[in-house]
Amino acid sequence: MADERSRWRDDFPVRWDDDNYMTRRELAKFLTLGSGLLAGVNGLIAVIGLTGRMPAAPVRRIAAVDDIAPGGSMLFRYPTDEDPCILVRDSSGRFDAFSQVCTHLSCAIVHRPDDHALACPCHRGAFSSSDGRPLAGPPTRRLPRIVVEERDGEIVATGVEV
Ligand code: FES
Repeated sequence: MADERSRWRDDFPVRWDDDNYMTRRELAKFLTLGSGLLAGVNGLIAVIGLTGRMPAAPVRRIAAVDDIAPGGSMLFRYPTDEDPCILVRDSSGRFDAFSQVCTHLSCAIVHRPDDHALACPCHRGAFSSSDGRPLAGPPTRRLPRIVVEERDGEIVATGVEV
């Protein structure tokens, strides 16, 4: 028996003192500290996310009230020049504005005043032109509303409601 053991040690000469041996206790400590560190970083990110402020949406003139007849619409960009939007005036004279990007697969929507709808030609989607909710086709999410108001005969955009 002693010979077998010696032979094994000759074949695999391991010096346990020099080996990087990790005990279960050390592994548990490493995992506990690592998990605690990750939890701390997540908490820090959450605090930054909750206390950080979103950049304020710009106030931007879109058009003069008289530029759009009741039942009409016009395209504009807001809040940046990369964001296409549509301003709709219903037959009563009320203005509503929405993102022009369909919430299904991002095609551009068009105004269908006879149906009081914003239609997406890609997959026959349709949204209400008064509140942006989906009416037909595959879209399930409403269009983001652009907050607009009348100021001294001008229509101005003041924010986005997602
Ligand atoms: S992209 Fe508008 S309905 Fe599909």
